[in-house]
Amino acid sequence: MTRTIPALAAAAALALFASFALPETRPAPQEGQEQPSAAADPHEWWKHEVIYEIYPRSFADSNDDGIGDLNGITSKLDYLQELGVGAIWLTPFFPSPQVDFGYDVSDYEQIDPMYGTLEDFDRLLAEGKKRGIRVILDLVVNHTSDQHKWFQESKSSKKSPKRDWYIWRKGKSGGQPPNNWLSLFGSPAWKLDPATDQYYYHFFYPEQPDLNWRNPEVEKAILDVSRYWYKKGVAGFRLDAVDTLYEDTALPDNATIAGTDKFGRPKQDEVHNRRLPEVHDALKKLRKVADEYGAVLVGETWTSDIEELKRYYGSGDEVQLPMNFMFAMVNTLSAPAFRKQIKLVEDAGVWPVYVVGNHDIVRSWNRYGDGINDDAIAKSLAALYLTLRGTAVMYYGEELGMENNDPTRKEDVKDPIGRLGWPEEKGRDGERTPMQWYPQPHAGFTRGTPWLPVPASADTRNVGLQTWDPASVLNFYKRLLALRRAHPALREGDYVPLLGDDPNVLAYLRRTKDSAVLVALNMSTSIPTLRDALAGQGLDAKVGRVLAGTLQPEKKAIPLGAITLRPFEVLILDVGPSAAAPPDRPRPPSPAANL
Ligand code: NOJ
Repeated sequence: MTRTIPALAAAAALALFASFALPETRPAPQEGQEQPSAAADPHEWWKHEVIYEIYPRSFADSNDDGIGDLNGITSKLDYLQELGVGAIWLTPFFPSPQVDFGYDVSDYEQIDPMYGTLEDFDRLLAEGKKRGIRVILDLVVNHTSDQHKWFQESKSSKKSPKRDWYIWRKGKSGGQPPNNWLSLFGSPAWKLDPATDQYYYHFFYPEQPDLNWRNPEVEKAILDVSRYWYKKGVAGFRLDAVDTLYEDTALPDNATIAGTDKFGRPKQDEVHNRRLPEVHDALKKLRKVADEYGAVLVGETWTSDIEELKRYYGSGDEVQLPMNFMFAMVNTLSAPAFRKQIKLVEDAGVWPVYVVGNHDIVRSWNRYGDGINDDAIAKSLAALYLTLRGTAVMYYGEELGMENNDPTRKEDVKDPIGRLGWPEEKGRDGERTPMQWYPQPHAGFTRGTPWLPVPASADTRNVGLQTWDPASVLNFYKRLLALRRAHPALREGDYVPLLGDDPNVLAYLRRTKDSAVLVALNMSTSIPTLRDALAGQGLDAKVGRVLAGTLQPEKKAIPLGAITLRPFEVLILDVGPSAAAPPDRPRPPSPAANL
């Protein structure tokens, strides 16, 4: 009897999830391209849909208070559907004192009134579902706000039943904190509570006390939060700051290592409070619950090597989509550097997760652009992460070539680390500015005063103008997203590297048994030819058909033996059997014509 209960519960959960299954409402397939049916699709949805990160404060403001909101996002779902994304990841919109702009959650199961209501959220989910857009939320697993009732209770007394939900310790003699650990955000990692004369631990801001994951009640509470949202129909979670879930309970000091951080403090080797092996136990538990609902987990997985990244996949029982930040932080448009990162993930035998920007990183436009060829470079980067084998996670505005708009005066900074670390660390405001919708005041984001200013370039770099410009970054993204969804080789094909050590061109095939796509990205000002690389694949005598390109028109037939790339050119060709015959050569008569 007891054995049948979990089985029934799992079956009920699956039935519930099935009722949220999305209709296959997809943009029409491009001419000449097959749209695989859901039934024939060997992939889980998250393997081929692009996930689009939205920072709700900055996406669309429906009530003109200068801060984006859920109804604003709902009003832009048609845009997102037309863009071609299959899921949106919303950074936190839960009640919060907003010290860390939502990553300091004070109630995990409500919506902060500045963003809307639970009804607004249900409507967003339902409208997303109609358009084939799933919703992924952000689960802040490492810490809560100091205003969360759990922490308030914990702080109230050493005898509080919730005391052990957080990490409290006596200080050392002489008014010293329990050890030398540092907060990532510029202060010591311990804050004294004078009322109980103990310190609590916070890896981020002092207003973000760390939860004690060694306490089973904490674990259960967070797993229950995930269940609460799954039952509403969310498709998964992006797990925030997973590497800091556990600390060594003996609290040894971290060793000091060479160099200083951006706040001028000697660096530490964070072996005792970061990347502890127990993290993987917690991830397995989060995954088990996710599996009950057929949900996906995306990881905020900053890693320094591929082995570390690999561990986040577990044996297929941890995070399905650990984001690869080693790829995101290549930070220079370099074919060899990208080739190396791609090879590492491909050789690791995992499902890659490519990302080039997010709300914590300077926009890719600024990191990769050269000030002259910026549009071409943005398209090159897009072509890269959207045609590789793996899942792609986009950041809102990347599709427009949005740039960072960093504050120029300390008094304008909103992100507290920017005030603490000024001028070296300006904070993250620059990459969080409002989405640029129209050539209007504040880029059409609000009719009020936006919480952050848009850059001057928003006058020309916005959805309204780029929609009508066939050569825009936006239209290139749309083309890539449509191709990625429709072309079998881009959905399922292997990654076959070409041009092993070319310093300028990154080229590869995506290939299935019956289809092949050639992606050639000239990441330089040189004018290379590809003949030798294609000869190696027996392709040089064939003819390709342009699927997308920055300089060649779509559908043009190109003899593969004679490809020359212009500076920063992107060329994506169908080189499978169906592309082999040039359009001007008479096709053999069909059997029907012989009758
Ligand atoms: C990672 C989030 O992306 C970042 O914005 C936040 O400040 C920290 N985690 C703390 O939650």
